[in-house]
Amino acid sequence: MSSKAAAKTILTGVKPTGAPHIGNYIGAIRPALELAAAHEKSFLFIADYHALNAVRDPAALKRDSYEVAACWLALGLDPAKTVFYRQSDVPEIFELTQLLAAVTPKGLMDRAHSYKAAVDKNREAGRDADADVNMGLYTYPILMAADILAMDTDIVPVGKDQVQHIEFARDMAGYFNNTFKEAFKLPEYRLAGETGAILPGLDGRKMSKSYGNHIPVFIDSRARRKLVMKIVTDSKLPEEPKDPDNNTIFQIYAQVADASGVAALREAFIKGGMGYGDAKQKLFDALEQAFEKPTAIYNDYMADTKKIDALLAQGAERARGEARKTLSRARAATGLNPLR
Ligand code: TRP
Repeated sequence: MSSKAAAKTILTGVKPTGAPHIGNYIGAIRPALELAAAHEKSFLFIADYHALNAVRDPAALKRDSYEVAACWLALGLDPAKTVFYRQSDVPEIFELTQLLAAVTPKGLMDRAHSYKAAVDKNREAGRDADADVNMGLYTYPILMAADILAMDTDIVPVGKDQVQHIEFARDMAGYFNNTFKEAFKLPEYRLAGETGAILPGLDGRKMSKSYGNHIPVFIDSRARRKLVMKIVTDSKLPEEPKDPDNNTIFQIYAQVADASGVAALREAFIKGGMGYGDAKQKLFDALEQAFEKPTAIYNDYMADTKKIDALLAQGAERARGEARKTLSRARAATGLNPLR
C-alpha cells in the first residue's frame, strides 16, 4: 500500500443481516478489515436505518445489529483505530440527507438499480409497479450518499451491486458543490469483490446460505468438524494423484491456512498419497486455528451486549464530530446557519 493511498479516508457500511459464513469472511469481511488497517482514517458502520426499510421486527433489528457488531469485533476490527458506529446514532447523517435531497433530481432515484428491480418484480407479478416500495427504499441512495459524504470519504470498498450508489453519491456531491459552493469531497469506489476470493461450499458450488452449503464462521468445534466431514469429494483413492485446483477441500484450505501449509497440501495432492480424510482433518485444524478464538470472542460479546453498546457509543461520538463539521459547512453553503 503506497503512503498516498494510506493517507486517504476509507468508509464501509454493512447492513445487519445474520451471521456470516466463511465465504462472507474471505470474500468481504477480511478484505475490508485489511483495507481499514492499511488506511490512516477508516470508518465502518452498521447501516441499521437502511435495514429498517425492510425489517419489521424490532427484536430482529436489535439482534442483527449486535450480531454484525460482534462479528466485526471478533474478526479483528480495531475500534481504537477504525471509527465503528451505528448509523442511527449519528443524527447529522439524516440532516445531511435532507440537504442532499434538495439538490437531487427525482429522475436519479427513478434510475436506481435497486428501485428499478423492485418495480420490475412487481410488473412481472402483475402488481402495481410501486407495490411495497416505501420512500426509504426509493430514497435509499440519498441516505447512502450522506453516509459517505458526511465523513469526507475518499474511498468506498464495495461489491459490484453497489457501484451505482457510489456514482450517485458523487453526482449528488457534484450537484451540491456546483449549485452552492464546494462543501463535499467526491468519493471513489474500490471494487472489493475482485480482491476477495469466491469460496466453494460443501457441495462445490459457490458457498451461499441459500444453497445451504455453507460453513458458518461462529460455530463450536464439533459442528465445524461435522461440516468439514460433509464436504463432497470424488471417489479417488488416497494414493491417486489429485488436482488441487478442482478440489473443494484444497480451495477452502488455501484461503485459511498459512503459505507453507498450502504449498505442502498442494504438493501432496499432486503427488498422490494424500487421502480426502486426512485432507479434511488438515482443513478442520486450519479452520479451528482461524476461527476458534474469534468464536469465543463473538460469544462473549453476544453474552454481554453492553460491551458492544459502549464501544459503539464511543464510535458514534467520533463519527458525530466528523459529521458535524461537514454538516455545518454544507448548511452554511446554502445560506442556512452553520451549526453553533
Ligand atoms: N448499501 C450497502 C449494502 O447494501 C450498505 C451501505 C449503506 C453502505 N451505506 C453505505 C456501503 C455507505 C458503503 C457506504 O451493502
